[in-house]
Amino acid sequence: MNLTENAIKVLKKRYLAKDENGNLLEDPEGMFRRVARTVASADKEYVSEEELKSIEQEFYDMMVNLDFLPNSPTLMNAGRPLGQLSACFVLPIEDTMEGIFETIKNAALIHKSGGGTGFSFSRLRPKGASVNSTGGVASGPVSFMKVFNAATEAVKQGGTRRGANMGILRVDHPDIVEFITCKKNNADITNFNISVGITEEFMNAVENNEYYNLVEPHTGKIVGKQNAREIFDLIVDMAWNNGEPGIIFLDRLNKDNVTPELGEIESTNPCGEQPLLPYEACNLGSINLSNMLKYVDGKPEVDFAKLRTTVWKAVHFLDNVIDVNKYPLPEIDKMTRGTRKIGLGVMGWADMLCKLNIPYNSQSSIDLAEKIMHFIQDESRKASMELAEKKGVFPYYDKSIYKNLGIRVRNATTTTIAPTGTLSIIAGVSSGIEPLFAISYIRNVMDNDELVEVNPVFKQVAKEEGFYSDELMRRIAKKGSIRGFDEIPEWIQDVFVTAHDISPDWHVRMQAAFQKYTDNAVSKTVNLRNEATRKDVADAFWLAYKTNCKGITIYRDGSRDLQVLNIGKVK
Ligand code: CDP
Repeated sequence: MNLTENAIKVLKKRYLAKDENGNLLEDPEGMFRRVARTVASADKEYVSEEELKSIEQEFYDMMVNLDFLPNSPTLMNAGRPLGQLSACFVLPIEDTMEGIFETIKNAALIHKSGGGTGFSFSRLRPKGASVNSTGGVASGPVSFMKVFNAATEAVKQGGTRRGANMGILRVDHPDIVEFITCKKNNADITNFNISVGITEEFMNAVENNEYYNLVEPHTGKIVGKQNAREIFDLIVDMAWNNGEPGIIFLDRLNKDNVTPELGEIESTNPCGEQPLLPYEACNLGSINLSNMLKYVDGKPEVDFAKLRTTVWKAVHFLDNVIDVNKYPLPEIDKMTRGTRKIGLGVMGWADMLCKLNIPYNSQSSIDLAEKIMHFIQDESRKASMELAEKKGVFPYYDKSIYKNLGIRVRNATTTTIAPTGTLSIIAGVSSGIEPLFAISYIRNVMDNDELVEVNPVFKQVAKEEGFYSDELMRRIAKKGSIRGFDEIPEWIQDVFVTAHDISPDWHVRMQAAFQKYTDNAVSKTVNLRNEATRKDVADAFWLAYKTNCKGITIYRDGSRDLQVLNIGKVK
């Protein structure tokens, strides 16, 4: 297999099966074989033994060639005792002591299995509201969020990964100001991403500079008013401060809720790309776009035929995952098998653009993004329709919008764009739909040796064009970007743009382009330079609203002491 050093390291540390003494029981090919066999086994009752073998081989080839990878829990747990294969969960929180602590317990079970959880805290009565049974007063959503946070801290995810959470509060909850500012300090509530649940009513009030009502969830009473612009500015200020909170457009999520009879969507998973009903889970998978090219007369173009067959196989794979998955709770089992949501997305988008010599921040790349995602959405739905013919529609089909439309599908949703934080490392490509973060960077290895890592697509072009040198790569690593390097041709500087070379509006427009053809949502961080102003943040929020994004997360470089990726910093 063609794996990078980083990929091998990550796989060895967290994905490959080990015995109780920590000895590896498989190699990467062994892992993909285990996953392919387990996922194919869902077809046992539908096909002959021979056909089953060829399905397994199809799944195996697609993963081993790094054309498609399922989300991490599937790679880690398929065919192993835990057997929990989904990355995304949403749990409800009831306004009772029993309800709150029941959910904390359930979240712990999910974290243990490698899944991430999202919650709406909006049903909890506000701080200071009376509690009948004790005659005391309630401590409010934010204080309970801290209990969830502490519980997450204590549950180290069975040696795989630490629990991740999303916390959401509706903008009309009386405790909204406390919520918006609850992560002001970088050291607080670190196991949560938080998002304000924005309503259309609120956005209209911001536009018209009006007040809006604060509503007590447990009584439905209006208990106060807030100036919408003041709240909007506070959200902007906090996001500028350190990236939290993000915002999600709740009414939009519900407008696209395909099973409204089953309930309202009140939260997403931790990274925001997967809106779900309470007790619903979803398994994701990503197609590596960097591998979806063909060369005609030496010129690269998108290989739509390969993309189509990969989409069909991936939908088949992800749908099978639902059947072989071991869900951590009976409620989740029922909901998830009932709607059969899957989330197929992409990674390696920036690498694909580089290979095609298209700058990320250009109208051509926006057009191509729409074309590719439209194609994936169409083909994935067709694949789901074909599966429905063979295996039946999803059990809650009669409660879905598809019934009236007369569209028979096996999966309530088929497309989602995940961050692919670790998947993209395994595949050795740029993550999700993000631009390149750096062209080259310096990594410290043992004994204080420095290693210069260069984007592989750039390295190849640099060699072909004859300007490659270790010394140049080292200089680029110090800066991150190649802007202003005279020895590099202009067109290459245009094509190999990094997150910080790109203005925020291109980030948002790219998110909107993919969202246009995605059933669920799109994970994207709108990266801003350190010098960005509050107005830049506000403009990005507005653009996200106006271009029909489902939400937005921004991050201003250097605004947290500890950040995952650093430019030009050698530690
Ligand atoms: O690349 P990988 O499959 O590991 O995950 P991702 O695409 O970066 O994240 C997809 C989803 O996995 C997130 O939105 C979370 O729901 C979940 N996740 C988690 O629970 N804990 C993490 N440390 C990372 C991701």
